[in-house]
Amino acid sequence: MQKYQIPHTDLHVSRLGYGCMGLGGHWNTEPLDPADQAKALEVVEKVLSEGINFFDHADIYMMGKAEEAFSGIWKALGTSREDVVLQSKCAIRFQDMPNPGDPQRFDFSYDYIISSTESILRRLNTDYLDILLLHRPDPLIEPEEVARAFDALASSGKVRHFGVSNHTASQMAFLQYYLDQPIVVNQVEMNVVHSSLVNDGVTFNRGEAQPKSSEGTVEYCRMNGVLLQAYSPVAGGRLFGNPHEMPAGHLQETAKIVSEMAEAKQTSKEAILLAWLLRHPAGIQPIFGTTRPERIAASVMADDVALSREDWYRLFIAGRGEPLP
Ligand SMILES: NC(=O)c1ccc[n+]([C@@H]2O[C@H](COP(=O)([O-])OP(=O)(O)OC[C@H]3O[C@@H](n4cnc5c(N)ncnc54)[C@H](OP(=O)(O)O)[C@@H]3O)[C@@H](O)[C@H]2O)c1
Repeated sequence: MQKYQIPHTDLHVSRLGYGCMGLGGHWNTEPLDPADQAKALEVVEKVLSEGINFFDHADIYMMGKAEEAFSGIWKALGTSREDVVLQSKCAIRFQDMPNPGDPQRFDFSYDYIISSTESILRRLNTDYLDILLLHRPDPLIEPEEVARAFDALASSGKVRHFGVSNHTASQMAFLQYYLDQPIVVNQVEMNVVHSSLVNDGVTFNRGEAQPKSSEGTVEYCRMNGVLLQAYSPVAGGRLFGNPHEMPAGHLQETAKIVSEMAEAKQTSKEAILLAWLLRHPAGIQPIFGTTRPERIAASVMADDVALSREDWYRLFIAGRGEPLP
C-alpha cells in the first residue's frame, strides 16, 4: 500500500484509511463483549497485514466500545504505538446524555473537548492522538474556546494535530482564523453516488441550481493543504448487489458500470469505487469500514487501479443521475 505525508505534519499514512465505526459490537451502553473484542482484533490484524496504518475513530462509535475494542492491539497483536496513526473525533453528544431529556447536540465548549479527548485516550489506552477532529459543526461555536482547548491539548502532548469533519470552506476559514495550529484534515461524506462536493462546482449558476454550501470546499482544502478524507466511500455497500435485481434508476445504472469496469480491469467493485476517490487530484484519503476480511482484501486492490479521465467521468455521470450541463 502506497503511503504519503499529510501536509503540515510528519505523519506518513496509507492511501486508504480504515474506519473503526463497525468495531465493538452494538450502539448501546452495555459493556464490551469479549466476542466483539476478539472480532475487532481479527479485523484490525487483517487491515494491518494489508499495509494500512491509518485508523479513524470517534468517541461515539458503539458508544465508546469501538475505541475500547481497538485498544487490545497493543497487547494482543504486539503493535507499537508508532506503527499506527490514530485519529478520533469529539463533539457529538447523544440525546439523554448525561441527563434524561437532554437533546442531541454538538458541543465545541472547552470543557467538553478536553474531557472527551481524555476519555478517548483512556479507551484507546494511549498517551496521545495523532489527529483530533471536531465531528460536526456546532452553531454555538466560540472559536476562542476551541483555540484554548486545542492549545491545552497540544501543549500537554495529548493531541499532535487537529482537524474537522463535515465542515464547509467558510466554516474552516472562520475557525482557522482563531487557531495557532493548522487544520490538517476535513472528513466528509463522498462517494460515486454522493458526489455533491465535486458536483456543486459543476452545477454552479445553472438556472434553478443555487450555489450549494459545499461549493468551494474542495478548493479550500487544496489551497490550504487540508487532507480531504472521504467517509462512506463505497456508499455503505448499496452498489454491490446484483444490478439486475435492483430497482431501475441511477443506482442500478451506476452498479452496472462499476461491475463492468471491475471486470474489464480485473479488479473488485470495491476497488473501482475507492479508485474513483483516489483519482481526484485533491489526494483524497478514503476511509472505508467493512468488517469482513474478504472485503478488506477487495478494497485494498484499489491501490493498484488507475482510472482514466473517461472512467472517472463515466462513474461521476452515472452516480449523479443526469447528464452534465
Ligand atoms: N465523520 C463522519 O461524520 C462519519 C460518518 C460516517 C462514517 N465515518 C467514518 O467512515 C468510516 C466508513 O464509513 P461507512 O462504514 O459508512 O463506509 P463504507 O466503507 O462505505 O461502508 C461500510 C458498510 O458497507 C458494507 N459493505 C461494504 N462492502 C460491502 C459489500 N461488498 N456488500 C455489502 N455490504 C458491504 C459494510 O458491511 P460489512 O461490514 O458487513 O462488510 C459496512 O456496513 C466509518 O467506519 C467511520 O470511521 C465518519
